[in-house]
Amino acid sequence: MEKARGDTTALKSPSGRRSTEHYKLPTDPVPRGAMMVSMKRILALISGRGTNLQSIAQACERERWAARLVAVVSDRVEAPGCALARGMGLPVHVISPADFPDRAQFQLALGERITRLDPDVVVLAGFMRILDPVIVERHAGRVLNIHPSLLPALPGLATHRRALEAGVRVHGATVHYVSAGVDTGPIIAQASLLVSDDDDEHSLAARVLAIEHELYPMALRWHLEGRLRLEGQRVRLDREALEELRACKT
Ligand code: GRF
Repeated sequence: MEKARGDTTALKSPSGRRSTEHYKLPTDPVPRGAMMVSMKRILALISGRGTNLQSIAQACERERWAARLVAVVSDRVEAPGCALARGMGLPVHVISPADFPDRAQFQLALGERITRLDPDVVVLAGFMRILDPVIVERHAGRVLNIHPSLLPALPGLATHRRALEAGVRVHGATVHYVSAGVDTGPIIAQASLLVSDDDDEHSLAARVLAIEHELYPMALRWHLEGRLRLEGQRVRLDREALEELRACKT
């Protein structure tokens, strides 16, 4: 049963993208009607530039998802993504570790804020902290992350430099459900590129980022549309999602 809360939109086609049916723009408070479904609430956590946040926001609007970004939480007040989010009209909540005596208190406040914002899905979009297992457990199967490598290879930081140092020929990005480890959890989608002899850390980062901006909105939309099925550690895609992944130009 959908949570009756937030904005509503008319029912859409299974893909949610090419529907010609009536689309009702989000309004607050929300009229409830027999043919209405509630808009899913997306919460983004960021620490930096926010370009993945932006690509999600743009896809959500352009493709008229039955969902909306409700807020952004940042652990860094100076993160450029905060200004970007405000520019998009999104409420920004800064929860900085500097304001708490220890990591446990910070994670507690973070967890409470996430719960209060009542998201259907949490997207980590360049959030540079490990979520406390309590938070992950509370939102199990509803927290997504993007990582700039082909997991399980190269978890952690400086993935592009490490890819070059290791001499890999194929590199890329991964969207996955978040589990308690560092960059672990069932993989939803991956896209790859060939590392060229001319690549340096900078060029590789830029090329992977372009992939991320396509991959993350796509995987998030699949999740929102219920086209993913978790079987143990594997994520099964329905046929339409699989075709979309195949057609993904990267
Ligand atoms: C991206 O490379 C993402 O994969 C990683 O952090 C970076 C965030 O970039 N988790 P941005 O803030 O979305 O521009």
